[in-house]
Amino acid sequence: MKYYMVLAISCVLLIILTITDALPGDLVEPIDKPFVEYYDSKELNVITVGDWGFEGIELNQTNSNQIKVAKAMETWAVNYHSDFIINTGDNFYISFVGDHEGVTSVDDPKWDRIWKGRYKGRLAKIPWYSVAGNHDWYNNVTAQVDYSLNYDSRFFLPSTYFVRESYFGKRKTKIAWIHIDTGIFFYTPAELEEVDKVIMKQQFERFGWNNTQAIEEKLKWVEDRLIEQQNSKWIFVVGHHPLVGICAQEYYMGRLRPLFEKYRVAAYFSGHAHTLEIEFAKFGQPVTYFLSGAGSRTDERCLEEDWGAPENVLGFLHSTINDTQMTYEFVDSTTLEPKIIYKGSVFPRPYYSY
Ligand SMILES: *[C@@H]1O[C@H](CO)[C@@H](O)[C@H](O)[C@H]1NC(C)=O
Ligand SMILES: *[C@@H]1O[C@H](CO)[C@@H](O)[C@H](O)[C@H]1NC(C)=O
Ligand SMILES: *[C@@H]1O[C@H](CO)[C@@H](O)[C@H](O)[C@H]1NC(C)=O
Ligand SMILES: *[C@@H]1O[C@H](CO)[C@@H](O)[C@H](O)[C@H]1NC(C)=O
Repeated sequence: MKYYMVLAISCVLLIILTITDALPGDLVEPIDKPFVEYYDSKELNVITVGDWGFEGIELNQTNSNQIKVAKAMETWAVNYHSDFIINTGDNFYISFVGDHEGVTSVDDPKWDRIWKGRYKGRLAKIPWYSVAGNHDWYNNVTAQVDYSLNYDSRFFLPSTYFVRESYFGKRKTKIAWIHIDTGIFFYTPAELEEVDKVIMKQQFERFGWNNTQAIEEKLKWVEDRLIEQQNSKWIFVVGHHPLVGICAQEYYMGRLRPLFEKYRVAAYFSGHAHTLEIEFAKFGQPVTYFLSGAGSRTDERCLEEDWGAPENVLGFLHSTINDTQMTYEFVDSTTLEPKIIYKGSVFPRPYYSY
């Protein structure tokens, strides 16, 4: 009798555990152990694009914004033999009446239509190292992680926080890429009450991310990874929300810049604002802040940047990283004849802040 009761209780427990498993908060929790990549080449070529998942055609335009940017990216990827994409998030938007935000599941037709269907040639062969943007959180963010883990790891989002180490060239120069989810830092509890953020809020609650302790834990995770990566020649951080202008001050976002500066991050790559912008490293501020969020839409600039593309410019960022510097160019792909609109370079992390 007792034995059966234990068995029955175990069964119930097992069912509960299985159900909890079906709501996989753990899938989005930070992964501490770095993913490691090796490249024989003496440099790495990288395309950074964000906010690319809008498939519609905007007012007064004949060509889809996304397709124009995708075509230019493909040209650059072939010319420079790009090694991978850095995807700064907002992978799927509402593009037409009746459409939904983000993706609903791993089977959502948007995977094939908006990602695989639009980025062809070399862009369809190389990994897309990703973060989730707010529009991804407006629907099932776990489905994006699940897709990466179980369906196609070329869309690389094994969690919402993870670290990659890329080693290249004879000297095995090490780059650390720390991918972070900035949603939890950006949106105040009051903003999470807004109607478009219902699902985001629900997911935060389900994952236990709806309190300041969880936010502090994520900040601690970022700091721990930065400490761990101090032997890297380059440290780059990738997140969705920008750290220039007014965006840098939102809610807990203000805690990130001091961390990046203290631990000598070379550059931070973001999207969210549908623009191309940069804040340079300068005396007393060793980090370069890139904003590449014009992969399918355009809008106003963040302001307080050092350089920004004019309004309504679509495009992406291309960069070449070697032992001694990273050269970069912003590519305007608003027309079918893309052009470089800004060029510069960034140096590896200095030993002392300058
Ligand atoms: C679209 O074109 C119409 C007619 O030429 C013009 O009045 C309108 O301002 C344009 N809208 C935008 C967003 O460019
Ligand atoms: C979200 O995606 C996960 C992972 O694929 C799945 O288990 C879950 O059922 C989905 N949630 C909803 C509400 O569809
Ligand atoms: C977080 O969400 C849980 C589950 O809905 C709720 O019980 C808890 O009160 C929320 N915490 C805060 C700080 O809002
Ligand atoms: C790195 O790239 C820069 C800019 O193209 C070049 O001047 C420099 O010689 C390169 N360094 C190495 C070690 O290849």
